Amino acid sequence: MKTTIAEVHKYVGQEVTIGAWLANKRSSGKIAFLQLRDGTGFIQGVVEKSQVNEDVFQAAKSITQESSLYVTGVVREDARSPFGYELSVTNIELIHMAVDYPITPKEHGIEFLMDHRHLWLRSKRQHAIMKIRNEVIRATYEFFNENGFVKVDPPILTGSAPEGTTELFHTKYFDEDAYLSQSGQLYMEAAAMALGKVFSFGPTFRAEKSKTRRHLIEFWMIEPEMAFYQFEDNLQVQEQYVSHIVQSVLKRCQLELKTLGRDTSKLENVKPPFARITYDEAIQLLHEKGFNDIQWGDDFGAPHETAIAESFDKPVFITHYPTTLKPFYMQPDPNRPEVVLCADLIAPEGYGEIIGGSERIHDYDLLKQRLEEHQLSLDAYKWYLELRQYGSVPHSGFGLGLERTIAWICGVEHVRETIPFPRLLNRLYP
Ligand code: 4AD
Ligand code: MG
Repeated sequence: MKTTIAEVHKYVGQEVTIGAWLANKRSSGKIAFLQLRDGTGFIQGVVEKSQVNEDVFQAAKSITQESSLYVTGVVREDARSPFGYELSVTNIELIHMAVDYPITPKEHGIEFLMDHRHLWLRSKRQHAIMKIRNEVIRATYEFFNENGFVKVDPPILTGSAPEGTTELFHTKYFDEDAYLSQSGQLYMEAAAMALGKVFSFGPTFRAEKSKTRRHLIEFWMIEPEMAFYQFEDNLQVQEQYVSHIVQSVLKRCQLELKTLGRDTSKLENVKPPFARITYDEAIQLLHEKGFNDIQWGDDFGAPHETAIAESFDKPVFITHYPTTLKPFYMQPDPNRPEVVLCADLIAPEGYGEIIGGSERIHDYDLLKQRLEEHQLSLDAYKWYLELRQYGSVPHSGFGLGLERTIAWICGVEHVRETIPFPRLLNRLYP
């Protein structure tokens, strides 16, 4: 019976054949232990000299790391393995003998691993992270589809810059100038006026000269936008959505979380509601924690976000930032126009901001004024302003950074491990 490692539980006591690679191997004169992987999972194959033909045992002993093979064996339950099953090997058919594999079981430096990212992805740890990434994406589609949202795909090549003009990737669009999308938000606002509740999921690009554990040059963002939703409605969608993805990973990725050594007790209580504190309260909290330099009007850096998050055991919303710190499209608080109706969601354990969102300006004159104050071209934003001329309504939305969210859920230090081929300040290879 041909099967995969993920399916072996259906064949306990039976003989199966699996197409696999050799991840690792230990052998003595009488027995060989093959750590096998096939993409769907990892299983140990046991080859006993006394139970197989001599050529099969010799094949097991001579096969090199990352060689490909068809392995046949009887599935056994095995309480000692975290996976729960192992294979008593009866036959081995070599497909391709690998040359010396550069990533050995010993420790390697990060730059070496990044140079070999195309191979590093095969490791158990990277496999676990990619499986969790897949689950976060699956749960995202599930959440928004079950809650009446329509998926809309905004363009990647754009003529405008929602998140400021300093971090744009410029390219030529025949005779015109174009930019790679920093955010699909403005297009999602147009889509929300057509379809009510919408969400996007796509790559975004920021030419940020930041070399931190939270910054990628190319990252993936989920951007929901909802017509008739105001500030508080927006926060409720966010806490429900983030809780849904965390609970889905807990339910479906126990083995992967174990592989990563993640302390899941810190994820279990991620359920609505999340605490909300204002920017003003956050400043006060920072002063109490000894950050005496920070003043009203300053933006928070990573150490500030980490210190604020330490006071909460779930993600926390920081709301009502100073207008001067945020993009032109955010709705000012009607009672206090020096702050906007926005919120950043800060993850626990030092993972920082995973969501930025706000209510949007829906008044034509105010939006025009804000564009002018930001010295943005009224020509380029003509279509965006027009949305405020034909049945303009209050609306809100947010953007969740996929890689930062995965880094937090997986408990991995750096976002570079959460995307298959990271684009970083000094890295375009492989
Ligand atoms: O806070 P940001 O810049 O918000 C926007 O782009 C809005 N237009 C979204 C919206 O309202 N539709 O980015 C949103 C999130 C951040 O909270 C962060 O998680 C992630 O995107 N992010 C990054 N992730 C990795 N590397 C970077 N360089 C990132 N910049 C932002
Ligand atoms: Mg932000």
